[in-house]
Amino acid sequence: MDAAPLPSSPTSALAVVRAVADLRATVRDWKRQGFSVGMVPTMGALHEGHLTLVREAARHADRVIASNFVNPTQFAAHEDLGKYPRQQEEDARLLAGAGCHLMFAPSVEEMYPDGFATSIAMTGPALGLEGDFRPQMFGGVALVVTKLFNQVQPDVAVFGEKDYQQLLVIRRFVRDLDLPIEIVGAPTQRDGWGLALSSRNAYLGETDLAAARQLNGILAQAAAEAASGRPLPGVEREAYAAILKAGFERVDYVAIRRADDLGVFRNDVVDAPARILTAAWLDKTRLIDNMAV
Ligand code: PAF
Repeated sequence: MDAAPLPSSPTSALAVVRAVADLRATVRDWKRQGFSVGMVPTMGALHEGHLTLVREAARHADRVIASNFVNPTQFAAHEDLGKYPRQQEEDARLLAGAGCHLMFAPSVEEMYPDGFATSIAMTGPALGLEGDFRPQMFGGVALVVTKLFNQVQPDVAVFGEKDYQQLLVIRRFVRDLDLPIEIVGAPTQRDGWGLALSSRNAYLGETDLAAARQLNGILAQAAAEAASGRPLPGVEREAYAAILKAGFERVDYVAIRRADDLGVFRNDVVDAPARILTAAWLDKTRLIDNMAV
């Protein structure tokens, strides 16, 4: 079996599995013993945000699997697939410390063998916002997460609210495809300045980091104004300008949308649970963030 034991950690022993067949054998064995299984899909380069998801999964299930796979189908040709940070040994050490039982780290060939010919197209929550600027992304996410869910067959899976639109997309296809998996959303983890933890923060130099750390305050201010009943176009325009003033070079969007389906507010004021979402660029690094209004 292709499961290399890693150096033991104070809190748990972690197996690293690279083949789907070995993954299935382990899960089968766990299920035979009556264990429930939780899953945290990741692309590696793990930080405290991911570890919080692992701990959350452990609250819901007896055994926790984290996948570690930089998924090529969710990147467009011009995006950062090649330079996306990869550090699997360090990831395994972190996962062991967080109480994860197994890291599934397949190769691209294992996930997408020669002749792979299937894609998933989505509408609904996949349209607009990220869907406008990264048209490749949600089809690729739906494809890889569906594959991971079929490979692991977890009882529960945990995703961060940091990728809020992704969370809605995943909830949608899980319902649409009748996958018997509970999807749990976990709050965004932030650093001491309020910057949402992200693997892409590793790209930021000192000046860009200082700018990035203003994003949270700008969103919080806009959220408070929207909640007080101010018309949304003005609030969004001011937030857009404030993000540029903070030092970002480009803003893809700042939008206040319905929290349940990311639909627009027809009357331009918040009259139901809402979310403010943004994506903006510091040099070649694209950051996203969002919060409840
Ligand atoms: O959020 C991510 O890291 C990825 O989009 C996911 C869900 C692991 C799919 O590759």
